[in-house]
Amino acid sequence: MAGQATGYKYAPEAASTAGIVADFYSDVKSKPTPAMLQALVDAEVGDEQAGEDPTTNELCRRGADLLGKQAAVLLPSGTMCNEIALALHCEPGSEVICARSAHIIEFEAGGPAALGGIMIHALDGELGLFTAADVRAAVRPPSRYAPESRLVCVEQTSNLGGGAVWPLAQLHAVAAEAKSQGLKTHMDGARLFNACVSSGTAPRDQAEGYDTVWIDLTKGLGGFAGAVLAGSTQDIDKAWRLKQRWGGGLRQSGHIAATGLYALDHNIERLAEDHALAASIGARVADMPNVSRVLPVETNIVIFDLAENGPTADEVVEALLEKGLRVGVFGERRVRIVTHLGVDRAGADRLCAELPAALAGTG
Ligand SMILES: Cc1ncc(COP(=O)(O)O)c(C=O)c1O
Repeated sequence: MAGQATGYKYAPEAASTAGIVADFYSDVKSKPTPAMLQALVDAEVGDEQAGEDPTTNELCRRGADLLGKQAAVLLPSGTMCNEIALALHCEPGSEVICARSAHIIEFEAGGPAALGGIMIHALDGELGLFTAADVRAAVRPPSRYAPESRLVCVEQTSNLGGGAVWPLAQLHAVAAEAKSQGLKTHMDGARLFNACVSSGTAPRDQAEGYDTVWIDLTKGLGGFAGAVLAGSTQDIDKAWRLKQRWGGGLRQSGHIAATGLYALDHNIERLAEDHALAASIGARVADMPNVSRVLPVETNIVIFDLAENGPTADEVVEALLEKGLRVGVFGERRVRIVTHLGVDRAGADRLCAELPAALAGTG
């Protein structure tokens, strides 16, 4: 993401979320709906570590099938999916190639280094996307002096790229290049369904060529925990060992899995509503004072930059918090707004009504 701020920090902590009437900070802020909670209550459960939880087994079967893979495993979070995948494809001293804005660099507490001893080769693509030629240039020739290039990791959609969607052909070309060089491939699918809905493509087509792929039950799907990592039977067996070692083994996880199955049935098509709302917010923000650039709005994320002579992102966020509205700071002059199941058009209208004063420094 050349020329764009990659540093970020959290929005100032609200003393309590009680006063927040509309939370656009992230799609992780949605709460499970009553129908989803009913599915949780009704779930048939057993001991997951022993393979006895029928609802988790069904979710994993469905996840693997959706992604066109042989097997899948339920993990507590998307972060654990990424870290386990990295550790199973790489070994200490080897290297993963990914975008400089990737979640594995920015938000996983140094996990690749701490857990896997893995080096990162960061690429400056556009909006968190890179090309097969970028991969070709990044792969290191065998040398006793250099780390061994082992893995290419993509993020579909790209969070800090403003929810940018990898075009299918580009995804496949990157995977093919990685394979031709003997590398493994991993897809962070935290928002894979947003990409599928936005581009009208099937998850298994997106995942083609990627050794491991995961989907999040939180974020757009509206659940409260859990992510499903899919891959070959061999890779998922290996992932199970790491899950056990790192304390990710679960017991009656069918209650979580039931929320995932509910979300797969009810919360995918509706992502189009989140995208329409984000597009409408983005269009309105583009005409507001002191906004220098809005990244293309392709899914549920609106990222925009503030002009040098106006308030900082911190100041904008604080002014909005006073009005019960929360958005995120992702750089000194960069703001992020995310739409999801927990916000609606009325909240978006309220945000767009309050934003001009906050941006002008008079809010
Ligand atoms: C692109 C991306 N990858 C991974 C994650 C981690 O997911 P989780 O919060 O389930 O650990 C997130 C969370 O925001 C994300 O945006």
